Amino acid sequence: MSTFEPLVFSGVQPTGNLHLGNYLGAVRRWVALQENNNCIYCVVDQHAITQAVSVWGGPAELQRNTREVTAAFLAAGIDAEKHIVFNQSRVRQHAELAWVFNCIARMGWLNRMTQFKDKAGKDRENASVGLFAYPNLMAADILVYRATHVPVGEDQKQHLELTRDIAQKFNTDFSDRIAELGLGIETQSGDETIQSFFPLTEPVIGGPAARVMSLRDGTKKMSKSDPSDLSRINLTDDEDTISKKIRKAKTDSEPLPSDIEGLNDRPEADNLVGIYAALTDTDKAGVIRDFGGQQFSVFKPALADLAVAKLAPIASEMRRLPADTAYIDSVLKNGGERAAILAEKTMRNVRDIVGFLQD
Ligand code: AMP
Ligand code: TRP
Repeated sequence: MSTFEPLVFSGVQPTGNLHLGNYLGAVRRWVALQENNNCIYCVVDQHAITQAVSVWGGPAELQRNTREVTAAFLAAGIDAEKHIVFNQSRVRQHAELAWVFNCIARMGWLNRMTQFKDKAGKDRENASVGLFAYPNLMAADILVYRATHVPVGEDQKQHLELTRDIAQKFNTDFSDRIAELGLGIETQSGDETIQSFFPLTEPVIGGPAARVMSLRDGTKKMSKSDPSDLSRINLTDDEDTISKKIRKAKTDSEPLPSDIEGLNDRPEADNLVGIYAALTDTDKAGVIRDFGGQQFSVFKPALADLAVAKLAPIASEMRRLPADTAYIDSVLKNGGERAAILAEKTMRNVRDIVGFLQD
């Protein structure tokens, strides 16, 4: 029985600075996955324009942010030669497949997406159609490569479930045609063996930093859009700024607990312990073994030193790279060309499956 080739795909929007949540929840794990997998990492510029122009900043800002996020990938250790790094809009097949998925996904499925509700806010009537259809484009990003694994932070879980629902419905709606054209891959669905064209992609979510919280409020996710810069550590922050933000991070007044259960109901303490664990590739229990019973006056300076040691080299590389626009652009061009070959292979099959005439 043949199976889908393992392939890792993920993306980040070029909407402002990357922060510690993006790094620990996503990019740092992408770096680790490069070791044993083929990987495609994408700067999703088409997703970035789904909100008002005043939110994403306009054309010059989009170009600047696309280069800056690419620089962050490279500075963090992503290997654009062994793997593929590019900006989404270069590979037209993403948008082409997204149209097919607009016709597969149901209104009811998209109506349940919490990210749309959060981003659209109260004035839903005024949200763009693109913001509503955003998850279909995300499914297309992944499935145009028939990617099997997608490493993301916790907040993307619902979108990946939708991606699986779209793949499943496509496979079922066109099952006869897929079989007739001999394009199916035998997969197990419960007790049954079926012929699938798209894989049911596995989310790769987890670890101690799947959801990094704001440094000002342990109940809110660390985000690019928080008005307070003290709420997040940006990947471009210098050493003093990183230390200052950790020193000023909100905490309670108790020492760290001596067991991990003691972190329940202490969101700020839990968050800082999770960050420490992720930066040292251990788990929260390991951090508690070392720091249990200690005051924040001891733990925070240790965390600040650690964060500076791990992040400052990335920041300095990031400050250097975007200045070299020609280099960044050549990475994206080269990655885009290699991605397009793979994407076109899938799309030729999709056009045949759906019934679009082509040469
Ligand atoms: P975005 O900036 O929304 O394009 O997110 C890029 C990646 O970072 C996605 O995989 C997100 O799930 C992840 N991410 C964003 N914010 C956080 C956070 N606070 N904690 C963990 N992961 C995050
Ligand atoms: N929606 C993701 C986010 O906001 C970004 C994204 C777009 C993505 N396409 C993707 C992530 C495909 C993983 C795979 O973080």
